[in-house]
Amino acid sequence: MDNNEAAAIAMPRIGDKAPAFKAVTTQGEIDFPKQYQGHWVILFSHPADFTPVCTSEFMTFATMEKQFEELNCKLVGLSVDGLYSHIAWLRTIKEKIEYKGMKDVEVKFPLIEDITMEVAKKYGMIQPGESSTKAVRAVFVIDPKGVIRAMIYYPLSMGRNFDELIRVVQALKAADEFGVATPADWRPGDDVIVPTAGSCGVAKDRMDGKEQGVTCHDWFFCTKKIDKEKVLQAIKK
Ligand code: BEZ
Repeated sequence: MDNNEAAAIAMPRIGDKAPAFKAVTTQGEIDFPKQYQGHWVILFSHPADFTPVCTSEFMTFATMEKQFEELNCKLVGLSVDGLYSHIAWLRTIKEKIEYKGMKDVEVKFPLIEDITMEVAKKYGMIQPGESSTKAVRAVFVIDPKGVIRAMIYYPLSMGRNFDELIRVVQALKAADEFGVATPADWRPGDDVIVPTAGSCGVAKDRMDGKEQGVTCHDWFFCTKKIDKEKVLQAIKK
């Protein structure tokens, strides 16, 4: 890919409003992100229908949909295939594929047809170094106000880790709810990171162990516990 080609590709960024579009899906037309206001959404792309990695991903995602629903998070898929291909592929998955204990899997979330690649290009899902005719495996986590909060891209050859996607939504929601950050590998119930103290006095009190429930590893690195049930309750909304 030369520099001109690279410059022509729109790449949304974290903190941007999710690019708007209307599209046809396996569940009817959608007006994105407008109709998802008030919900978290994972908009994700896959390279092609009737391919093995994508099939394993769709079966896993559909099987975990309830876990995402419990986080008020909707799923929306996309590939540059047409609607009839999507319908035939999802029917094949339901009727024929048994994989890792999953069978009779019905994909109920919408799958966007994007033959023109209009949506895929808006979201930087076409990455010509990898493929100019297929979308890479992109994941956009979008908040209830339509703002992109996290983006993850995987190559064609690599299936995604859906536990990690649950963790990403949980961590973003916990950070918003409690005004904290989350450390490496955080899961609900693990200690969270409290914001760096705004003044020397508060920092000293923290370091001296005077701020209740806060443990400091150094002046810039302080953590506290939040009860797992409290986190799980707060991030349900
Ligand atoms: C797959 O889903 O198996 C796949 C799709 C496109 C390229 C390589 C693998």
